Amino acid sequence: MSYLDRALSRALSIADLRRIAMRRLPRSVFEFIDGGAEDELTLAGNRAAFERLRIVPRVLIDVSTPELQTEIVGQLAAAPFVIAPMGACALAWPDADLAIARAASAHGIPYTLSTMATISIERMADAVQGRLWFQLYVLRDRAMTDSLVDRANSAGYEALVVTVDLPAGGKRERDLRNGISVPLRMTSRHLVEGITHPAWALRMLRGGLPEFENVRGLLGDDSAGLTIAARVGQNLDAAYDWDDLARLRERWPRKLLVKGVAHPTDAVRMVSLGVDGIWVSNHGGRQLDGAIASADALPRVAAELQGKAALLIDSGVRRGIDALKSRALGAQAVAIGRAALFGASAGGEAGVRRALEILTGELALAMKLSGVPTMQSVDRSILRSDQARKEE
Ligand code: FNR
Repeated sequence: MSYLDRALSRALSIADLRRIAMRRLPRSVFEFIDGGAEDELTLAGNRAAFERLRIVPRVLIDVSTPELQTEIVGQLAAAPFVIAPMGACALAWPDADLAIARAASAHGIPYTLSTMATISIERMADAVQGRLWFQLYVLRDRAMTDSLVDRANSAGYEALVVTVDLPAGGKRERDLRNGISVPLRMTSRHLVEGITHPAWALRMLRGGLPEFENVRGLLGDDSAGLTIAARVGQNLDAAYDWDDLARLRERWPRKLLVKGVAHPTDAVRMVSLGVDGIWVSNHGGRQLDGAIASADALPRVAAELQGKAALLIDSGVRRGIDALKSRALGAQAVAIGRAALFGASAGGEAGVRRALEILTGELALAMKLSGVPTMQSVDRSILRSDQARKEE
């Protein structure tokens, strides 16, 4: 067993994987992944909201073989998890996108490729057999936006996830201080960080500087040295509105999800436009600092939707039990961002597999201890009564 495998097998929790990632990555890269916007109130609030939720366990129920399998957006998945889209992952580990997608496929859960991934739509579809979704950022360059949608369609992606909570890049002060910017390039500070993290630096040198393959040419000019969030925001179309969403619905023939939703009124209007899935998210606390925690937003969205569309949630999932709590509040599944990327940062594909093993293991145990034999049998009645009220 290699040193890497030993460290991974000793990791018991996502928090352990995060600690390994913190040691192995240069600080600027770790903080790009780990950090949030401004005072990180929403980042902390996401965890606090999950932590506040409490289950009232049932007993004397046969829980000998907990069944994690569940339907996600119309198809069965092995567990109620989805990989959230993440850009610039290759800063953490060469080909991290592939590592994460392969681990997701091995675990039988959907994977979402970001517009800002460092692998193209087509290369990913060729390399990975599992369920693939494509996340769309709506660029100011509408022709390029349309071509991203059409490419995902031609490559056979099962679902399109349009992210709507980034009309501008969040103010991520850690990235501003650390000088993490795009196009990805090395500054002298990063060289010093590389010297103090030789294993990471060697992997990077071998892999070459990652490129945003889906939007080649778009981010061109590197003179301004903007943070990744600011640069992406600068190229996104802040004028995107309901009419545009209706047009996207016409252009994309398969499942359409909208990511970055918090308000129940928005969710209902989206469904009336023919959207198949609502993805409650605050971008992991990386956008509006002061936005409601996802787990706090979920119950009202679920109450308004009344099962008329698939409902997903992300932001702050770090334990298997978070999937059980989210399910009790009405979500089909939870999406994970950093939990997977901490795994990739700690050990590539093996690290992501370890992260998924940890989360599914924790979920199976939480189901047993809560008296819940199947995902289908989870409802609000397992929550503390004041938390099980429909409207919060
Ligand atoms: C993201 N997120 C994101 N979302 C998106 O729609 N497109 C993207 O390109 C990215 N990029 C990205 C990079 C990194 C490093 C992180 C951590 C996050 C947000 C992501 O999809 C998801 O909403 C959050 O990560 C969920 O919160 P947790 O699970 O990280 O707490």
